[in-house]
Amino acid sequence: MRLPTHVRIIDVGPRDGLQNEKQPVPAAVKIELVQRLQEAGLKEIEVTSFVSPKWVPQMADAAEVMAGMQRQSGVRYSVLTPNLKGFEAAVDSRPDEIVVFGAASEAFSRKNINCSIAESIERFAPVVEAARAQGLAVRGAMSCTVGCPYEGEIAPEQVGYLAGLMKGIGVQRVDVADTIGVGTPRKVQAAIEATLKHFAIDDVSGHFHDTYGQALANTLAALELGVWNFQSSVAGLGGCPYAKGATGNVATEDVVFMLHGMGIATGIDLDRLVDAGAFISDFLGRQPQSRVAVALLNKRAG
Ligand code: HMG
Ligand code: MG
Repeated sequence: MRLPTHVRIIDVGPRDGLQNEKQPVPAAVKIELVQRLQEAGLKEIEVTSFVSPKWVPQMADAAEVMAGMQRQSGVRYSVLTPNLKGFEAAVDSRPDEIVVFGAASEAFSRKNINCSIAESIERFAPVVEAARAQGLAVRGAMSCTVGCPYEGEIAPEQVGYLAGLMKGIGVQRVDVADTIGVGTPRKVQAAIEATLKHFAIDDVSGHFHDTYGQALANTLAALELGVWNFQSSVAGLGGCPYAKGATGNVATEDVVFMLHGMGIATGIDLDRLVDAGAFISDFLGRQPQSRVAVALLNKRAG
């Protein structure tokens, strides 16, 4: 088994992490979180989403956050854009990459973006075309690739179907997301293998929520297949408003600790990452949802 020697992490904390928070998080706090993440060495940050503020109120300040952050060269800033309206609003904010987001489950597609899978692809196609015409990178998030809160287990064929549709409209890379964290290693590998029929290994990333405590095991399972791009959320922030009971993404601190322990480079300074997680957790009034962060903070205090 040859594992990757280097992993690239996209921290999705400012977006996936905060989108579900009930208490309003001021733009200034989101901006500082982005700042701290890049100071910790993150080279990709999913900053926000240009979605309907009626659907996701927490992301209503997308333009303000994008305008306020201090861009660092070499860092890629991505934003979610579900339709042309969102794309047009996002363009002025100069993202490096836009993300269209679909689901391998019909029911989740309807709950999350109010349309079928086929309709979602019709909506994404002009977004992808416009983005690529402007030289922006395009990523496709694929939700519910293992399980769905409404449909239950999702077959790998459904994942392959969605990946093929995404490829067909010009999406450059995709995320295999376990939105509700029910995946276990072999099931996650099957979802990734179905995706690999349409995308090269360098263009597939793992996006695992840790609801059932399987995310690190699933990360290792993805590494075994050669996947070297992952999304995680500082302090384990997160949850999806349209997936009840789904908790946060796997904590970036936990992923980094595991990878460094295995001799896999990330370019991330774990101590500074823990500081970033402590900053946002303090604001939210809770402990970081990361075993590694809590252990390191306890060690510092002791
Ligand atoms: P809709 O109601 O079908 O859209 O929503 P519509 O086109 O009929 O428009 C309805 C209203 O929304 C109109 O306003 C539009 O102008 C407005 P009104 O006339 O009623 O005042 N509108 C918008 N406003 C701002 N930005 C926009 C936009 N589009 C329409 N882009 C829509 C369709 C997609 C907009 C809606 O369903 C939506 O915003 N959904 C948000 C879904 C979301 O953000 N979910 C969380 C992110 S996905 C996720 O977390 C999973 C992921 O992490 C991977 C994983 O873990 O699975 C990525
Ligand atoms: Mg997610």
